[in-house]
Amino acid sequence: MTAAVAGRRVVHGTSATTVSAQDRLPVDRRTPRGPVAWTAMSAPSASNDGAGSPELFDKVVNLTKRRGFVYPSAEIYGGFRSTYDYGPVGVLLLRNVKEAWWRSMVQLRDDVVGLDASILSPPRVWEASGHLANFTDPLVDCTNCNARWRLDKLDDPDQCPNCGKRGTFTEPRQFNLMFKTHAGPVEEAAAVAYLRPETAQGMFINFKNVIDTTRVRPPFGIAQIGKSFRNEITPGNFVFRTREFEQMEMEYFVHPDEAERWYEYWCNERFQWYLDHGMPADKLRMRPHDPDELSHYSSGTADVEFLFPWGWDELEGVANRGDYDLTQHAKHSGERLEWYDQATGERWVPHVIEPAAGATRTAMAFLMAAYDEEEVRGEKRTVLRFHHRIAPYKVAVLPLSKKPELTGPARELAARLRPHFMCDYDETQSIGRRYRRQDELGTPYCVTFDFDSLEDRAVTVRERDSMEQERVPIDEVVDHLRELMA
Ligand code: GAP
Repeated sequence: MTAAVAGRRVVHGTSATTVSAQDRLPVDRRTPRGPVAWTAMSAPSASNDGAGSPELFDKVVNLTKRRGFVYPSAEIYGGFRSTYDYGPVGVLLLRNVKEAWWRSMVQLRDDVVGLDASILSPPRVWEASGHLANFTDPLVDCTNCNARWRLDKLDDPDQCPNCGKRGTFTEPRQFNLMFKTHAGPVEEAAAVAYLRPETAQGMFINFKNVIDTTRVRPPFGIAQIGKSFRNEITPGNFVFRTREFEQMEMEYFVHPDEAERWYEYWCNERFQWYLDHGMPADKLRMRPHDPDELSHYSSGTADVEFLFPWGWDELEGVANRGDYDLTQHAKHSGERLEWYDQATGERWVPHVIEPAAGATRTAMAFLMAAYDEEEVRGEKRTVLRFHHRIAPYKVAVLPLSKKPELTGPARELAARLRPHFMCDYDETQSIGRRYRRQDELGTPYCVTFDFDSLEDRAVTVRERDSMEQERVPIDEVVDHLRELMA
């Protein structure tokens, strides 16, 4: 969660086959759960002690390029300023991250509804939210080498990391991170529009629409996944900080007296979500913000942090935003944004608990967490040990040879699997190399069609992590894989 301190941004913006804790939760979740499990796992400070392995970063970035996860954007024109395109495998990974979030946050719950709000919005929205005035980072220029830096992210605020000179920075000036454009053909003040820097405001400005048109009543949430844009001064660390990225945010509207309990509930839920999807517990921590980091309207914020190769860094922020947003939009729009309880005749402005995650950043963390190397029969095996929900392909069909008597039925089998699972098919190179390729894609199961398959109508199913193989009748493969990935 971007913090609110002087000189920094002020607006807040596994195992493969286990059943997730989300799936086991009761349908009626209106009562916050008891003790908060994550507090026991939390590290006390924001320090980057015990940083992850720096070599891991290069290895993962190389693999993502080599295997079609992520490409630099506009690469044939020399690339474009820290923007990235998700390739044929990366788009599957990213979709799976978003789908896993949506499943937990919307599909499995009876108290959260979805929304897909517009990316372009008028200045009044951002005036009300405070972004126009406050969504800024402190920018400094080095007068020696002309490099630009975000002051609050420098290890030494007096030394340029590019040329090493000291005392060469200009006075910091506040730089607004919102992308400005014009709606319509004329570039005049009346046509100014902004690309949203967070999805959250879409939920607040649709609060009245949602309560008027659905059956929700507090406590309830509105969830959204979508692109956000920030003109970051120093994008970097691959897709960790980019100017165009995807967020997964949920605004949970509660009675003011219950806000604290729901805040703890959502800290707990969100921390557990990462564990349930294969993040190792020793690479994950919850870091409550220090009081001087809190924004003026927040009575509590905690970040879910992952141990990236450069150290602990934010994946998601959970904030208790109070009634700030609804009150601001009510004031600026003139609409009543409150809850009317017909039974008691009471009116009150809900408080908001916000779990705000980055989809692209989380996909990168899943890649880092999944990457593994081991020695198998004297050779290095690289494997992405993704949870099956996150894995781009769930299964790959591999005929043992390129002979048509095998490729024909193997293609038929792949066609039978496709309605049920995202399925790859590969008939090139030796079977060993093809297994290694699927290991690098993180595919949990490979199904090999060999010459015996023509006789016994069975195939070999190979599990990615153990590399164990078992023979399964062709007619049972779909059910078998379904059970393994339940
Ligand atoms: N509505 C609250 C909000 O936007 P935030 O901490 O600024 O809070 C939420 O953003 C999440 O969005 C972050 O935890 C991070 O995962 C992701 N995020 C923010 N800026 C990003 C960027 N420039 N590139 C990639 N992800 C970003």
